[in-house]
Amino acid sequence: MKKILSPLINEQIKLHNRIVMAPMNRRRASNGIPSESMVTYYKQRSSAGLIITDNLAISSNGGAYMDTPGIYNDDQKRAWKKIVKEVHGKGGKIFAQLVHSGRIGHPSIQNGEPLIAPSAISVNETILTPDQTYQPMAKPLEIPIEQIHIWINAFKEAALNAVEVGFDGVEIHAAHGFLIDQFINPLSNIRTDKYGGSIENRSRFLFEVMQEVVAKVGKNKVGIRLSPFREIYDLTSYAEELATHEYILEQLQKLGVLYIHFSNAISNGKPSIPISFIHNARQYFKNIIMIAGGFTVQTAEEILQAQHVDLVAFGKLYISNPDLVERIEHNAPLAKWNEDTFYHGSEEGYIDYPRAF
Ligand SMILES: Cc1cc2nc3c(=O)[nH]c(=O)nc-3n(C[C@H](O)[C@H](O)[C@H](O)COP(=O)(O)O)c2cc1C
Repeated sequence: MKKILSPLINEQIKLHNRIVMAPMNRRRASNGIPSESMVTYYKQRSSAGLIITDNLAISSNGGAYMDTPGIYNDDQKRAWKKIVKEVHGKGGKIFAQLVHSGRIGHPSIQNGEPLIAPSAISVNETILTPDQTYQPMAKPLEIPIEQIHIWINAFKEAALNAVEVGFDGVEIHAAHGFLIDQFINPLSNIRTDKYGGSIENRSRFLFEVMQEVVAKVGKNKVGIRLSPFREIYDLTSYAEELATHEYILEQLQKLGVLYIHFSNAISNGKPSIPISFIHNARQYFKNIIMIAGGFTVQTAEEILQAQHVDLVAFGKLYISNPDLVERIEHNAPLAKWNEDTFYHGSEEGYIDYPRAF
């Protein structure tokens, strides 16, 4: 039997297999409320060992893109409750990915609210806005030190909401240049207070968020997504990048969270995260390690066999193969995804990919 199909069972969690549906914002929500088609979409994919949701905004100014779902009000909670119930009804497990986008976005997407960030440095990119034009991302306001607690609290409240509606846990999105990553990276964080400068200071916001969330929902229900060495939204590599990430892994071990989810990007055939880093991560972090980014069934099986990671998350393959687990079980061919419908808004390319089993 393939390792990828073997269950992952430890004291904290039981997963039927090691195949994870990666978090993917498919922009099928309105006013942050998941659509009916999202119920079908997740239900169709519930044979995954674990589903991680679209990134869910933790506050009204926290979703980077148009039609991003949220988990900060009752209407959103009600809709998620239904989705979670359907996935659980099919025997699946589902974690909510929680995000604040920080300086990524535009006030017209963030309910007219200004963008906020560790420092007032804008991203030199454009973003699609509700009038269907691409606008430059706005300059964010630097979060005053006395308001940092507001955003830590927003993560905590969102995590409590997620657990209240039945999610099996939450994944804190500390990757891809969003708010937490903006604190970690000195190119977006030039603060001179205790949230900027040294490795410890740049990681402080992350750990204050993690500590609050862990204290409220329990360490066994908390995972984190990180994208070390990834170049995204004007963030490039920096001098202390390796040391920063080693420190973060060490501290995550002390916190005892359930998993770390590394998000890899493949560029010209080269992964953003060297395999040696993933291998060494085990020295620091003893619980579950997951990886995503450019995996085929074959390469996923190989990295699992090598014991570098415990779980592999698939993104695009899960868009076009709702029955990915069953196809792997039967060695059946995998369907190709259609990029045109990733963010299309309709049911096309969302819930109409046929099952083979
Ligand atoms: C349509 C789409 C939306 C995505 N949205 C998110 C997201 O909300 N949060 C996140 O952490 N990653 C997001 N990602 C990245 C995926 O989780 C995954 O890391 C990426 O697709 C690489 O894996 P793959 O090669 O298996 O597709 C998204 C990717 C795609 C294709």
